[in-house]
Amino acid sequence: MAYLQPDKPDKIYLPAIRAAKEKGEKLVCLTAYDYPTARIVDEAGVDLILVGDSIGNVIYGYGNTIPVSLEEIESATVAVKRATERAMVISDLPYGTYHLSQKETVKNALQLMKHGGAEAIKLEGGKNRVKLVKRLVDEEIPVVAHIGLTPQSVYKLGGYRVQGRTAEQAKRLIEDAQSLEEAGAFAIVLELVPREVAEIITKEVKISTIGIGAGAGCDIQVLVLHDLLGMTFGRQPRFVRKYADLRQIMTESIQTWTNDVKNGNYPNESESYGLTDEAKAELENLLK
Ligand code: KIV
Repeated sequence: MAYLQPDKPDKIYLPAIRAAKEKGEKLVCLTAYDYPTARIVDEAGVDLILVGDSIGNVIYGYGNTIPVSLEEIESATVAVKRATERAMVISDLPYGTYHLSQKETVKNALQLMKHGGAEAIKLEGGKNRVKLVKRLVDEEIPVVAHIGLTPQSVYKLGGYRVQGRTAEQAKRLIEDAQSLEEAGAFAIVLELVPREVAEIITKEVKISTIGIGAGAGCDIQVLVLHDLLGMTFGRQPRFVRKYADLRQIMTESIQTWTNDVKNGNYPNESESYGLTDEAKAELENLLK
């Protein structure tokens, strides 16, 4: 029997992520929620693409991630997966889709994999998710965990603040990470935690840490694409480095086009279609 070859020889699957950690090679991850951005991100050489529930903030303007539905993540995953050849595609399980029972969680994760095309799923929580992570891994579902600031707990936490600042809290985060590794997660997002804590976790666990606002010591760095490109609104957290100002570029381009239309400079002849001389003459005759 001949086995199908993977999509691309250098396509990123779990072994590549493990190997990078062993070699001390840094990987990068960005979010994407649609075909064009996923294609650009993948072609730029990013290793992992996260269809994050940050879609709620960035695309839908909900203000937080709570309202995001499984269907919204699934349909974004379909588009991202179609655009992606090399990067690993990871999809977030949104709030409420892994909270009721293990059975329903497995069903929802499988929906993202079978219908969306996700190659791994991500969920938030520490020790409280250990049984769930084990169950998902038992069903051959690759799992990324997410600790530190967990945005789906925004109402409980009362805002987006750095987590694990006291020694007690830091110890709890380290224990969470160890438990999630034991449960079978292959990576853990560390969001908004002190860099010292992220460094300890990265040393203590064999699985990869994916840092956002967690310092340079993590194995993988992740950012929300729209933050990196300057396509978000309002004050940004200190860890966001804006590499472009697409909001400005888009505004100026739209204003220039608007002015061109209003001043009769768009579209010009080469940007429209004409009749042949023969058709023109025939039409004139018909209209007589
Ligand atoms: O939803 C998301 O984009 C995330 C990243 C910030 C890690 O969870």
